[in-house]
Amino acid sequence: MSDTAPIQHPSWLTTGDFTTADEPLRLFTAWLSEATATEPRDPTAMTLATVDSDGLPNARMVLLKGVDERGFVFYTNMDSKKGQELDAQPQAALVFHWKSVNRQVRVRGSVERVTDAEADAYFASRPKQAQIGAWASKQSAPLETRLAFEKAVAVYAAKYAIGDVPRPPNWSGYRIVPLSIEFWQERPFRLHDRIEFKRDHPSAPWNKTRLYP
Ligand SMILES: Cc1cc2nc3c(=O)[nH]c(=O)nc-3n(C[C@H](O)[C@H](O)[C@H](O)COP(=O)(O)O)c2cc1C
Repeated sequence: MSDTAPIQHPSWLTTGDFTTADEPLRLFTAWLSEATATEPRDPTAMTLATVDSDGLPNARMVLLKGVDERGFVFYTNMDSKKGQELDAQPQAALVFHWKSVNRQVRVRGSVERVTDAEADAYFASRPKQAQIGAWASKQSAPLETRLAFEKAVAVYAAKYAIGDVPRPPNWSGYRIVPLSIEFWQERPFRLHDRIEFKRDHPSAPWNKTRLYP
């Protein structure tokens, strides 16, 4: 090969280049729909990280129930540990890991509660047993016995046997309003691709940076 011949890149470096994307929420939606087609279950599962009042990080899985240009929404009991932590320190990080496509997405941002209308609409779409469970569970509070929980479920099942189940006042959604979103795609030999989108505030334009893996 002569010194002037063009460099031949392996095909995995030159095909399917998501790093040219310029709008992270559109790219996220595309990746989520690909993961929905390939993940065996729960493609919307994400790790939610918060901090407690001592500054100690806390993380657990939740399900993404809505995403649009405003941010990423999940639902929970607002009196739970995560609810208390988010109300005291309304900032969070999310991590998605889709093993079937070897991709990771990381989100960081500020957190707000969804409107009552949004929470009502989502709660109304849930199965009745899950609605009753939301009334019966004092999520994250100590529970003496399994039987005590089952009794609470039976009490609310009887109370709401007829008609619609209203949304509990302490049950709603939180929206993570992203200030950074990072996309990671596995590549052979650990030569992975990473791009990070950042903005200073929710109405500012996104800036994109490629990162070393
Ligand atoms: C795959 C998966 C999805 C979950 N989705 C939710 C969810 O959407 N909302 C929720 O409140 N808890 C969800 N949980 C339970 C939480 O991980 C956690 O145990 C619970 O919310 C209590 O957390 P906390 O004590 O930090 O508030 C899920 C657990 C798993 C494993």
